[in-house]
Amino acid sequence: MKTVIANWKSNPNSLREAARLAKSIEKHASLNRKAEVVIAPPFIYLSDVKKEVSTAKLGAQDVFGNEGGAYTGAINLAQLKNTGVKYVIIGHSERRRYFGETDEFINKKVTAALAYGFKIVLCVGNKEKMSDPSNFVNKQLTADLKGVSSKDKIRNLIVAYEPIWAIGTGNADNPQSAAEVSLRIKEHINKLMGVGKIKVLYGGSVTDKNIRSFISRNKIDGVLVGGASLNPSMFGRIIKAANELG
Ligand code: PGA
Repeated sequence: MKTVIANWKSNPNSLREAARLAKSIEKHASLNRKAEVVIAPPFIYLSDVKKEVSTAKLGAQDVFGNEGGAYTGAINLAQLKNTGVKYVIIGHSERRRYFGETDEFINKKVTAALAYGFKIVLCVGNKEKMSDPSNFVNKQLTADLKGVSSKDKIRNLIVAYEPIWAIGTGNADNPQSAAEVSLRIKEHINKLMGVGKIKVLYGGSVTDKNIRSFISRNKIDGVLVGGASLNPSMFGRIIKAANELG
């Protein structure tokens, strides 16, 4: 089964628009049940998006890896769980870049969120184009997964390979090389913790036009979609493609 995650980032600006988008995604998810569909809206819309979905799953774009307390502005693990969130995106390049998140901080979130039973979507990726990004990406993974072992509900780990230069630029990676990196990630996780069956998604300027070239490769288990997830009809076609290739 292929996974399609809608990462709305800091969009849209009204609850009305969020509900409309969620309704449309739910409709496409229910018509295409061979695809696993996740919506990751801004925190502020989680409860309302939840009312609109039954087939699509609820995801969060980030989490503070703690159960609560005096942490102004933080959304914690228990709050997300009690809101019905099943998936948590961790370490997105925009969190690393604009909010100064380090591998060490991300590692704490990963460990806490796995222990809490979330499915986590750990994002890694190289800033500039590289002929072989695997070493860079695998180093990030080693740091982000420090101390995590096969006992730590590793089946709940999903890795998203997102070359930063491809995010929001309209300039997606070459599917063949994305598949190659994806394979290297699986091998690396296998070496690190003896588990080879994790899902690896591709992210970076995925559209209805290019999705098939990525997910038709069996090394790529789905896509993390930003911009195109805000366009209901385009995202519908992305879900449909994932269903057909699932
Ligand atoms: P994009 O974003 O699809 O707009 O390139 C992907 C992401 O950042 O997850």
